[in-house]
Amino acid sequence: MTATGSHLSGVWAKATDLHIERGIGCRVIDVNGEDYLDFTGGMAAASTGHAHPKVTQAIAEQAAQIIHSQINVYRHDKLEPLAAKLAEITPESIDTFYFGSTSDEILEAAVKLSKHATGRRNVVVFDGAFHGRTHYTLAMSSSRAIDREGYGPLPGSVFIAPFPDPHASDQEAEVSRALRGLDRLMSTQVAASKVAAIVIEPVIGERGYIPTPKGFITGVAERCERNGILLVADETQSGFGRTGKMFATEALDVTPDIVCMAKGIASGFPFAALGTRRELDDSWVTGSHSGSSNGNPIACAAALATIEVLQEPGFLDNVKARGDQLTDALRELQQLDQAMVHVRGRGLMVATEFDTAERAQAIVDHCLRESKVILMTAGTRGKTIRWSPPLIITSSEVDEAVAAFSAAIRATS
Ligand SMILES: Cc1ncc(COP(=O)(O)O)c(C=O)c1O
Repeated sequence: MTATGSHLSGVWAKATDLHIERGIGCRVIDVNGEDYLDFTGGMAAASTGHAHPKVTQAIAEQAAQIIHSQINVYRHDKLEPLAAKLAEITPESIDTFYFGSTSDEILEAAVKLSKHATGRRNVVVFDGAFHGRTHYTLAMSSSRAIDREGYGPLPGSVFIAPFPDPHASDQEAEVSRALRGLDRLMSTQVAASKVAAIVIEPVIGERGYIPTPKGFITGVAERCERNGILLVADETQSGFGRTGKMFATEALDVTPDIVCMAKGIASGFPFAALGTRRELDDSWVTGSHSGSSNGNPIACAAALATIEVLQEPGFLDNVKARGDQLTDALRELQQLDQAMVHVRGRGLMVATEFDTAERAQAIVDHCLRESKVILMTAGTRGKTIRWSPPLIITSSEVDEAVAAFSAAIRATS
């Protein structure tokens, strides 16, 4: 035994001390047999809930058939059906897919593809975005200083443009201000003609669930179009039904050149995908990129089963309805507590922002301790509580979580 009594790395921060044995639907059950309502959805990844019968069956059947089938060596029978299914559900511009295991890897791949496709070297991202933890994706991320602390110097050729402040009272003026900042950046720090890609989250995730205003993303898309820059939508967290649409960009009137997908795509099974247009993929030099577990058959089976569940009649309507129910209830509670400064979100990607991180944490702790509801904080300063339950959440489970939150607000004010 080590001095800490564990052989596990200490690098992971802990949102709870729970020791989980299994999960079912929206609940996880710990080693003492206590069950908890999981409003984190395992960081918005458990889209169909824990151990969805269709997903577990697909995984078990595939595991009995073949576990590993390396894509450079031979192909298996889930690859083409999954690519065809993704072509059906992703934005119209997208018809060709690359498969990996994590979103960091897919964001890296998106940048590499953009470089080959444009012959340019630079990438523009937005203030507060989070795109991953590898050195390059970390250089693209600015949601929290601790993520970067001690890891520099980070790779260059990444430029961070302003993002509209969700608290600004005049949102239209704020969007114009941020777009002017982007124009200025592309005339003072890097020429627009030298930018390969602009990468944007349709809902900014880790900075605290901030929906990207439609006027902003369409302004970004116009600049991409005008300057031959690829528009990369990072739908890692917002994709696969999370916002009530299969992809959040659908509601924003933009046509991305590349879409990055992960988390909910396979109900939390490690899988991620990059979607693009055939002619862009044609410029990606064959043999210049790959990975040992690319297109893993179990992950593909989990993704196919997950998408089948998400496409069940009424599934996305439920996400929208539960999102509205949750947001309305939280807005009502906001009237009772001036410290709750902002309620925002799209679908089941909802945020309640408090005036201090201490208060937000006290509420999260109370919900866990007294009501067995798991929530967690997010945001640059940890002042935001994020709500990202499995998408199968029921009306009574939303009521249960809101009741826990309401009790916690009263107890901690
Ligand atoms: C938008 C976005 N991109 C990338 C990532 C990195 O994902 P992962 O930690 O699963 O690699 C995240 C994680 O939260 C994210 O929200």
